[in-house]
Amino acid sequence: MAGPSLNLFRPKPHTEQRPTPQGKTGIAQQLFRYLLRHKIKQFKGIPGPTPSFPTGNTQDLSKGKPIWEVFADYAQQYGGLSLFWLLGRPCLVLNDPDLIAEVLMESTAGQTETKTTSKCPFHNFRFYKNLPRKALRPIMTDTSTFIAPVADQRWQELHQNHPFALDYFDQWLDTQFPTLRAFMQTRIAKLAAESATFEAFEMVQKLTFDGFSLAMVGKVFPDQVFAQFNTLCQSSTQRMNRSTIANGLIPNRPWDPRFHQVSRQWFKYFDQAVQQAQLQPTGESLMAWVMRKGGSNHTPDEFRNIFAGVYPGGAISAPSAITSTLHLLYQHPEVLASLRDALKDLFAAPLTLERLENCTLLDQVLREAMRLRPPVPFFMRNVNPDQPTKLGGHTIPANTSIFINNWYLHRSDHWSCPEAFKPERWDPETCRQNDWGSGYFFPYGRGKRTCMGQALAHCFMKLTLAVMVSECEVTFGDQPHDREFFFGVAVPRQLKVSLAPL
Ligand code: HEM
Repeated sequence: MAGPSLNLFRPKPHTEQRPTPQGKTGIAQQLFRYLLRHKIKQFKGIPGPTPSFPTGNTQDLSKGKPIWEVFADYAQQYGGLSLFWLLGRPCLVLNDPDLIAEVLMESTAGQTETKTTSKCPFHNFRFYKNLPRKALRPIMTDTSTFIAPVADQRWQELHQNHPFALDYFDQWLDTQFPTLRAFMQTRIAKLAAESATFEAFEMVQKLTFDGFSLAMVGKVFPDQVFAQFNTLCQSSTQRMNRSTIANGLIPNRPWDPRFHQVSRQWFKYFDQAVQQAQLQPTGESLMAWVMRKGGSNHTPDEFRNIFAGVYPGGAISAPSAITSTLHLLYQHPEVLASLRDALKDLFAAPLTLERLENCTLLDQVLREAMRLRPPVPFFMRNVNPDQPTKLGGHTIPANTSIFINNWYLHRSDHWSCPEAFKPERWDPETCRQNDWGSGYFFPYGRGKRTCMGQALAHCFMKLTLAVMVSECEVTFGDQPHDREFFFGVAVPRQLKVSLAPL
């Protein structure tokens, strides 16, 4: 059952922007225009909604519509490049694949050795990652490649030495797979035997968090650690919303003592895990492998931070995708039946990672779910703090915030029947033309800063889906699939689900 066709999603190249309508303006709009006239002048020619004093267009984001849908509306009205105002801060929204590529695929190669007096360490880069970097601290630290502002030398060192980038990572994942498979099968059978109704995302998130911990550090943490993780993410989400909406008027500094106490505890668990792995690097966890095999030149503190900092991907984005996929399968019983058939063959012999990866229909289902409901539907960049840049034929002032929206392009009419769930659309030619990280399909981002956890995420998501679908009847309530912004991820909330053994 696909949703009603809204026929909203025709991409408009940024070269075909519509001008902002110049209708009657109220006093609040005139006041905004007068007070911010110097800034407004710098964005001449870029269309967008009319801002009013004192909030700019902030009210657009507080009407109950998810922010990525508001950005899609902007695409409809103003084209692939539009301007809106968070209070007095100008922000660009990119819904155009070429402009997005220009920002995300930035390379310093070919750029002039900038003759700048800037002390800014990334003066060579046109764009950098700002928000939500600050808000993610202190659950993520400077040793996380995720929050490094640019792909500079420091980032390259972190990236190359990251456990996910080591040359034995694939071999580790293969070896780890039977442990994960056994964990998923036991845990899912137990959940099904409970005959209970769960909040879908919470149930999947706990399952993924525990499986992820097993893979990363070789043990399942006590339940309180999971609760603490969510407290940290909740608190970071509030900081992110505050910093986005209030744009620094409310200083984004730590005033929540509980948050810091929990954060200290969180890192302590990983300190203990590192110490234990140093003393006894046994077992098949990634941490133990890196201790045994080496190749990562991080200090113990950096090592701890890296492991503590990869959880948001593993325990928020991946469960968001799994929950959405299960929900779509429930809404499309014919696809579910075909998938069950395909999985029967898969489970006829011992399941290996290679065989799981070769299950075409599972791959198609996941791609289609991540196209329609990308876990990370938008992300952010900023123009270099000291240097304006050219984008889409406009000169964009230094430090302008940029919102990059994949949700819109995933549903644009680049795709036939864009809003329909059609896993079969992913034939080999479509996959080739719309590879992960291409113009109209980039759920993991694009370019150098693309997701480092993609291989692990696929293994996790496919395994969880394969076991759930082949061993359980998964029944959802009739709640709508609403998604809440949580730690930078669109998370399905309030969906009720029950599992029963098949
Ligand atoms: C469905 C699951 C996931 C999705 C949709 C996802 C999405 C993304 C996206 C969109 C980015 C790029 C952000 C940007 O350009 O600003 C990213 C980066 C990243 N992701 Fe994921 N992610 C997922 C799972 C994971 C997992 C499981 C891990 C780790 C275990 C992970 C670790 C990272 C890291 C370290 C980066 C930063 C790379 C860098 O900037 O150098 N992700 N992810």
